[in-house]
Formats: sequence, structure tokens, C-alpha cells
Amino acid sequence: MQLFSHDQVNLDVLKKLAFNYRWAEVPEGVIPLTAADSDFPCAQEIQQDLCNYLKQGYLSYTPKLGYPEVRVSLANKLNERKNENVDPDLLLPVDSAARGMYIIAQTILRPGDEMIVFDPVDYLFGKSCESAGATPVLCPSLLVNGELDLTHLENYITPRTKMIGLCNPHNPLGKLYNKESLQRLLDLAEKHDLYIMNDEIWSDIVFSGKQFCSILTVDPSKSHRVLSVYGLSKSFSIAGLRAGCIYCSTKEMFDRLVEKSDVMTTAGGIASISQYAMKICMDKCYYWNEAFVAQMECNRDYALTRIAKMPGISCHVPDATFLLFPDISATGLESGDFVELIEKEVKLALVPGTPKFFGPGAQGHVRICLSTSDKILTEAMDRLEKGMSIIMNR
Ligand SMILES: Cc1ncc(COP(=O)(O)O)c(C=O)c1O
Repeated sequence: MQLFSHDQVNLDVLKKLAFNYRWAEVPEGVIPLTAADSDFPCAQEIQQDLCNYLKQGYLSYTPKLGYPEVRVSLANKLNERKNENVDPDLLLPVDSAARGMYIIAQTILRPGDEMIVFDPVDYLFGKSCESAGATPVLCPSLLVNGELDLTHLENYITPRTKMIGLCNPHNPLGKLYNKESLQRLLDLAEKHDLYIMNDEIWSDIVFSGKQFCSILTVDPSKSHRVLSVYGLSKSFSIAGLRAGCIYCSTKEMFDRLVEKSDVMTTAGGIASISQYAMKICMDKCYYWNEAFVAQMECNRDYALTRIAKMPGISCHVPDATFLLFPDISATGLESGDFVELIEKEVKLALVPGTPKFFGPGAQGHVRICLSTSDKILTEAMDRLEKGMSIIMNR
């Protein structure tokens, strides 16, 4: 069976179940290359094992800190695949990476504090900071010779700075931080007594020839400054299960995270079935993830080849994520207007590079999600080409 052939994409179901700017939310006939969620169903093992789990008939409370075997499976895989030296006793399963970011922000930040948030980056960095009453300070996410550059970062640190948000791999730029940059970040954290919110949700979507380097492997003597978040929405196509985890390297910090997570009162916490799904992913589904990444690499290469031939739009090559972040500034349109026009003219929905989604630094760009079939992507690129020619000739 071809896991990622077009016949695996069930549009009838997606139109009922895929929300967050996707098939269930766009007008009939529109192709949504919007939220970073996959059009492919999750692995058979997840489908079957979750059915068997449900057949037991009990959906009881779980341990407050999560099932021990789930924590062990997550830590084992983070260690095996990324060498992160995670202690399962210092890892807390949570109901999504988004929730994990909020818990970390609320643990570290107080009103009046500042957090450095790169611009552009996923809006959850700024939002989680604001949820703690703190102020995001925007620092440009610069690409220098195609590499993420942090040489300017220290200029944005003030006496109020308490944390730096790190998105590695980076959404929306699709880039990986190299070891030198991560060392620089740790050195700055040490010098200014800061924490790092380390979001690695994209670390399982890395293309051939590129290597993900976790900040936890760079200088373990400084790992106590790193609070990490990981999620399975992107790499295993289970976004609706809201499954992720947070982890750190000291018991004192772990207890603070647990306190803010509300799991001890049961007001917070992750559903039993979502925890179990994480264990299935970790134990049985990396073959699926690897085949998915290979398909995403084909999609990336195809879309980049098509875009390179279109006037008014250009794109750097992402090394990770299933996202493209092309520059449309040559059209002379604001990102929001561009996206509106493309949807109206050729029925293709994209994410605009607006402050709402990524920060003011995203202006002049749009984000394209590639996690669909080759057939849908081909049709989407045909539409984009037509849309670009309408826009450039108007
Ligand atoms: C960088 C980043 N962090 C966190 C999230 C949230 O993921 P989750 O579905 O686990 O809440 C996303 C989702 O797009 C993301 O791109």
C-alpha cells in the first residue's frame, strides 16, 4: 500500500473534520494549503490500537503526571533519535505543544517581564508570553547566507528580559539552528540569567542531508536554562488529539511546571487516549514518519520548482518542516490582500504573513503548507501560477 498516494486522501471526511482554516472551513472548491496539518490519515497502528484501547470500555482517570510508560517512551525516543538526555521523571505529557508553551511561559514570566520573540515566528510564542502578563520583545529572525543568524540578539536583551523563545526547526522559515548559534544562545542565557523556551515540535520533519541539532546536546552544563516543548501534531498527523509534552532538567523546575500545568488538581492534563496515542507513535510509527518526511521532501522540491518559474514570487529552500514561506513583495501587495486575491481569483487558500500569525516581520510573505497529495499540490501550483499571472498583469 502506498501510504501517501492521492487515494489515501479522503476529502469527504476532511471536509467534515479538518478545521483551523482547513477543508471544513473553506468554501467548497477552495484548496486550503493553510494550517500545518496533514491531509493524510494517521498510521494504521494508531487507528487499530486506539480502537482496541476503546474496546476495553474504560476511560478512567490517568496518573496525574501521565502514564509512566508513556513518559518513558517519549523520553526514550527523544534520547535515541536526538540524544537529548531526557529523564522521564522530568517529562510531563500535556494536551498539545501549544499548552506546553503556555505552561512554560506562566512558570517563568511575571507581569512586567520581557520575553524575546523572534519575528517572524509562530504566533504561539507571543501569545504564550502575553498569557503570563509579560511583554514580547520582537527580534528579527534573520537569514544570513541562508542560515538563521543570532549575532544581533543581545541588542534586544534588557534588565527585564527573562526568557528567549527558540523555535527549532523554525516555523515559518523551515530552517535549523546550527550548533554555534545554539551555543551563542546558551552563553547569552548564562550571561543575562535567562531561560530558553525550546520548541522542538518540528524536529521530526527534517529533510535529507540536514541534521537537527537540539540545544540540549550543545552544552549540557547550561541545559538547566532550557525548558523544552515537543508535540506530535505535525510528525504523526494527530493534531486533534492535542498531544505533546514538556521537559526540563531539574526537579525544582519540573515541580514548578507541574504546579502551573494544573494537573495535580485535574483541571489540566491530557486525555488518556491521547497519551496512549503518543506511546503508539513513539513505539511503532517512526516508519510512517520517515515515509511522510520523504513524501514532504518530494512535495517541497516540486513546489519550489514550480514557484521558481512564476513571476512575482520567490522562495528560499527550507531544510525542515512541511512549510514554504515565499516572498511575494514583488507583487506590491500586502500579504493579507495577496491572500484574499488569490483565494478569490483561483480558489487557493494560504496563510498571510501578517502580525496575527507570525509577527510584523512576516510582511511580504505567505505560508504554504505542503502536507497534501501530489495531485492536490499540482492543482494548487497550477492555481498559484494562474493567480500570479493575474496579479502581475493587473
Ligand atoms: C512552532 C509550533 N509550536 C507549537 C505548535 C502547536 O502545536 P500543537 O498542535 O501541539 O498545539 C505549532 C503548530 O503549528 C507550531 O508550528
